[in-house]
Amino acid sequence: MPNFKLKISGLTKRYGDFVALAPTDLEVAEGEFLTLLGPSGSGKTTLLSLIAGLAVPDGGQLLINGKDVTYGAPYERDIGMVFQNYALFPHMTIAENIAFPLKMRRVDAATARRQALEALEMVRLPHVAARFPKELSGGQQQRIALARCLVYKPSIILMDEPLGALDKKLRDHMQLEIKRIHRELGTTIVYVTHDQEEAMTMSDRICLMNGGKIEQLGTPSDLYFRPRTLFVADFLGESNLFEGTVTQVRGDHVEVALAQGGAVAHAVTNAPVAAGARCGSWCGRRTSPWPTASPLPMRSAAKCWTA
Ligand SMILES: Nc1ncnc2c1ncn2[C@@H]1O[C@H](COP(=O)(O)OP(=O)(O)OP(=O)(O)O)[C@@H](O)[C@H]1O
Ligand SMILES: [Mg+2]
Repeated sequence: MPNFKLKISGLTKRYGDFVALAPTDLEVAEGEFLTLLGPSGSGKTTLLSLIAGLAVPDGGQLLINGKDVTYGAPYERDIGMVFQNYALFPHMTIAENIAFPLKMRRVDAATARRQALEALEMVRLPHVAARFPKELSGGQQQRIALARCLVYKPSIILMDEPLGALDKKLRDHMQLEIKRIHRELGTTIVYVTHDQEEAMTMSDRICLMNGGKIEQLGTPSDLYFRPRTLFVADFLGESNLFEGTVTQVRGDHVEVALAQGGAVAHAVTNAPVAAGARCGSWCGRRTSPWPTASPLPMRSAAKCWTA
């Protein structure tokens, strides 16, 4: 049996009549980097808050390390969290900020200080231990927030848009740092972003959410090359979308006559389709329109779904 760190079955959250998270199943493997991706309001933070124990579900079950923690307190969950607003304590030095979670766990002062300095090494800022938060840049403060989470070695780290407040260059750098730390520590990470490029570069798997539901769950290349729905195809990558009719089916390979211009697309389909079905076909990373009379090359017309 695979070693699941986190197992969610039928987990649901409502606010009055509004369903913020429809009954959802999700399994996250030990050491996996899973990203919740989706547009604003799709339920990413809701799902993360339920995992963290910051919100109470209206139904379903949540297991961490095989233990039912559906209604357990946050501190029973062995979870660390990093948010977009990293709120360090302004009156404490960086070393004191990082040692704080250890102090709360009654670790003795000398051990706490040593471990805080180790966590600072981990985020490559060993020289700022004696400074105060206001003496650091935004990116450095975000790394301190990460160190404060790493210091007590939680076995799952939840991150909600942790790089949202940083400029592009710093964000790219921090993405690499987080991936390096993930590799070195083997921690299970559930990461929230609405930035598709960030999700594609960082994740083992992406859970694409839409309207409080999982639209598709898979590796970045699954979602990119074999989207199950138009929403997924449209959300990931620059895409040109064409409508057409399936003319031939060979296994998961189909030929599509496009509605416009009589061109033919060769595509791979995830859902079973029959000849005659209407479908949409997608051609990746083309900015200029296709010359509609010529056939689309195989590699570019990589996918197809029933419309
Ligand atoms: N406390 C609340 N009361 C009522 N509705 C809420 C509450 N919290 C969230 N919602 C609603 O639930 C839906 C999902 O919200 P959620 O915060 O999970 O979205 P999100 O995917 O994290 O979006 P964003 O990318 O903007 O952070 C939204 O429509 C939101 O308005
Ligand atoms: Mg959110």
